Amino acid sequence: MSTDYIYLEETSSTQTYLKSLDVNALPEFYCVRAGYQQQGRGRGTNRWKSLPNENLMMSVLLFPDTSPEKQFDISCMTALALVKAIQQNTDIQNIKIKWPNDIYIQDKKIAGILIEHTLSVHQIKHSIIGIGLNVNQKHFSETIPNPTSMFLETGQRYNVEQLCFDVIEHLKKWKRTDRQTLLDKYNQLLYRKEKFCQYIIKRNNTSIAAKIVGIDNFGRLLLQDKAQNMMKFELNEISYII
Ligand code: BTN
Repeated sequence: MSTDYIYLEETSSTQTYLKSLDVNALPEFYCVRAGYQQQGRGRGTNRWKSLPNENLMMSVLLFPDTSPEKQFDISCMTALALVKAIQQNTDIQNIKIKWPNDIYIQDKKIAGILIEHTLSVHQIKHSIIGIGLNVNQKHFSETIPNPTSMFLETGQRYNVEQLCFDVIEHLKKWKRTDRQTLLDKYNQLLYRKEKFCQYIIKRNNTSIAAKIVGIDNFGRLLLQDKAQNMMKFELNEISYII
C-alpha cells in the first residue's frame, strides 16, 4: 500500500493535490489522504468542511477503461465501496445511496463523493474520485444540512486510516464487477426508493410528489408520479426536499 498512498497532514484539497500530479506516471488506485483540507471541495460550488483529523478525506486515481457514456459506473462503484466499508466497520443498518452519490443513514448525510473525469471522445482517460466520510466528528456547523457521522450513529470512534484502506480494497473489488451487477446493487440501495416524496423540478421550480423507481443504464433517475407517469432526470435537473 505504501507506494500507492500518501498522507498529508494539511493541504488545500486532496482532489486538487492529486490533479496537480503527473497522473499517468502513477498506479491506478493511487490515493492521497489528508488530515485537514483548507479548501475542501464539494460538488458544484459547494465547500466540504471537516474538522482536523476527525474524518476521512481522500482522493483516488482510477483508469476506468470505459466510454464516457458509462461514466455513471464510477459513481456506482464508489458509492458501493463506501457502503461496504461502513458495513465492514460498524453495525449501522439502513445505509442508503442518495442519487447520484451521497451516502445516507435515515435522512442524514454521512458521506459525499466528488468525481472528476478527464475525457477523450471515446474514453475516460482517468477519473479522480474524492471521498469525504464523516467518521469521528461529533458537532457540525449549523450551515451543513442534515449531517451525521459514524460516531454519532454508533457512539464509537474509528481508525480513519484503516477506513481509507478498506474503501480502496472495496473499490478494487467493485471495479472488477460487471456493469449490470453494479447497477443492480446500486438500485437496491437507493435512498427513498418506492416511497412517495416531494421533489423540486429545477427547470420550472415546481414541486411534485413522486416515487423513485430506480436509475437507468446511464444513471438517470427514474421517478413515477401517482398517475403512474414515468419521468427521467439528469444530474442537476431535480432536487430532493428532505
Ligand atoms: C459532496 O458531497 O459535495 C462531495 C464531497 C467530496 C469531499 C471530498 S473530501 C476529499 C476530496 N477532496 C475534496 O476537496 N473534496 C473531496
